[in-house]
Amino acid sequence: MSLILAIESSCDETAAAVVKDGRTVLSNVISSQIETHKKFGGVVPEVASRKHLEAVNCVIDSAISDAGITLADLDYIAVTYAPGLVGALLVGVSAAKALSLALGIPLIGVHHIRGHICANFIDHADLTPPFVCLVASGGHSHIVYVADYTEFEVLGQTRDDAAGEAFDKVARVLGLGYPGGPKIDALAKEGNELAIPFKKVRFPGDSLDFSFSGIKTAVINYYHNIEQKGEVPNKADIAASFQKSVCEVMVDHLLEAAKLKGCHKVALAGGVACNSRLRAELDARSDGLMIYYPSPILCTDNAAMIGCCAYYEALASNFADMSLNAIPYLGIDLK
Ligand code: KG4
Ligand code: ZN
Repeated sequence: MSLILAIESSCDETAAAVVKDGRTVLSNVISSQIETHKKFGGVVPEVASRKHLEAVNCVIDSAISDAGITLADLDYIAVTYAPGLVGALLVGVSAAKALSLALGIPLIGVHHIRGHICANFIDHADLTPPFVCLVASGGHSHIVYVADYTEFEVLGQTRDDAAGEAFDKVARVLGLGYPGGPKIDALAKEGNELAIPFKKVRFPGDSLDFSFSGIKTAVINYYHNIEQKGEVPNKADIAASFQKSVCEVMVDHLLEAAKLKGCHKVALAGGVACNSRLRAELDARSDGLMIYYPSPILCTDNAAMIGCCAYYEALASNFADMSLNAIPYLGIDLK
């Protein structure tokens, strides 16, 4: 049996979890900073680092006690070291290094996006690679071929905004607040998604890359044009039409990737994977494919997914040492 304490602090959630044998979560503690950042309309990196510092020790203590274990029972310490806000990552990395050194147990550095993908293993005991996965969050939008537990190939990614970023920016213009994804998801249910034909962006050829900045600008321009005419924009219709376009393009690319790789299994991951319209679109077009997505609490940032990913990194002997550092940008296929 292996017990991993995992720590996650890459953005605005301070999280710690204890994971047994890779897929069993004994505790999953998340301290969110959303209320703090709400008044700024987005995450303020400096503030995030300070909040992580305040929370990290308490969150780790809670994860250990919720799991009903002591620090002495742990076999490994895992931590997100890339990508993310560098000052935020550093808090988790420093705490993990200190624990690894003090307890004399191995340290495992985990890539945040790999962690998001691994969230699927926690909720789906039957899921094994290979499969293709759409990872869509506030900072990333990737189509990834998961060849094995520690082998990832990026088949497509955004060339500008991340999907979650587009949701957040559109929500801000509509005055819905931060984070925008859940607000747009809820408001869209009251709107007509065929009301405004926002175009889906497609790069020439077989590219599976995304672009979300064009549709974001189109929505913002549409909204301001209506206002300038002295009319009242129908926010629900705008939210629904925007969401339809973004979700359709993400599912188009995911299904094309599955075809390209001859995969019968497709998965969603990341905060945007909570989106009800995205899940419905994928379900409707599954056509015999096996579909996987994590429960909402494992879609947004958490440390359980980091612990799960770390288990497979440990099986592959991918350990870190005291030179582990925070890296703000790092490809999913790099170490
Ligand atoms: O994975 P995550 O917690 O953090 C990052 O790694 O970025 O994702 C946060 C993002 C935010 O942009 C948020 O608006 C989006 O996920 N999100 C959603 C939904 N729930 C969260 N986007 C669309 N629909 C949702 N229901
Ligand atoms: Zn994330």
